[in-house]
Amino acid sequence: MDERRMRMGVLISGGGTNLQAILDASAAGRREAEVVVVLANHENAYGLERARRAGIPAAWVDRSAYQTFRAYNEALRDLLLEHEADLVVMAGYMRLLGTEVLDAFPDRVLNIHPALLPAFPGPSGIRDAFEYGVKVTGVTVHLANEKFDDGPIIAQEAVTVADDDTIESLEAKIHEVEHRIYPEVLQLFAEGRVAVEDGKARIIPLAEGPSGAR
Ligand code: GRF
Repeated sequence: MDERRMRMGVLISGGGTNLQAILDASAAGRREAEVVVVLANHENAYGLERARRAGIPAAWVDRSAYQTFRAYNEALRDLLLEHEADLVVMAGYMRLLGTEVLDAFPDRVLNIHPALLPAFPGPSGIRDAFEYGVKVTGVTVHLANEKFDDGPIIAQEAVTVADDDTIESLEAKIHEVEHRIYPEVLQLFAEGRVAVEDGKARIIPLAEGPSGAR
């Protein structure tokens, strides 16, 4: 990629433990990527506090302050562009994004989901998988589109559900994987190693080089 670090705008709705994992990875200097702005759709999202503590601009964008979904998404897009974000990272952002944002960042909007998509989409993926009784669930990182938990899959990691797992122990295992895999995928983006062709994402092996050419 170019000389500058990749600039990430992170969208959150709540606690922001994934945001924290991303911030920690950047702070540790392990990543060629930095968080430049954090936006939340809830005023009291704890992730805003995490961002401020890390000295990163953070704002609540109040949906009810905008007459239309479109105007709200234009505001999000403008803030992301103002901070010169290259990549939009949804980290527990529990709303759909409008085309205003998606079109401004083509193949550059990511989401993380705590199940193996396309199984168990929606806001309670861990619980839904647990209650179904699956023996294997996991984590998916994918490019986002205008639907919930949909779009080209970049990375998935399986998590085994043990007979003695409870919903709490399964949540803990899933979050542990999330906090490792999301920074890893972001690093791949920073290295220019994620290619999207024919609606599918693929990770370019190191030997192929950043552009896919040797
Ligand atoms: C994560 O499990 C993520 O996969 C899902 O929402 C949760 C957000 O958690 N989309 P946090 O706010 O990052 O702690």
